[in-house]
Amino acid sequence: MLTVTVCVGSSCHLKGAYGVIEEIKRLIDEGKFPGKVELQAGFCLDNCRGAVNIKVEETIISGVSPANVKQHLDNYLKGNV
Ligand code: FES
Repeated sequence: MLTVTVCVGSSCHLKGAYGVIEEIKRLIDEGKFPGKVELQAGFCLDNCRGAVNIKVEETIISGVSPANVKQHLDNYLKGNV
């Protein structure tokens, strides 16, 4: 199982964290990831300048948007992060 945490702290919220959450939910519902994905919301990841930040397992990925979140997650799954 892959755990994905989307920061919903102030900076990430203002930069569109909820849009990222909705897109990840949509991708999960459409079965775009191998295996189970647990989606969580989390507090500030101490990298506000890089908003929106997500944490995949223990790896923080910055500059995430609804448009690029699938690419970021695919890169992680391929070991390219
Ligand atoms: S608010 Fe998201 S990293 Fe600080």
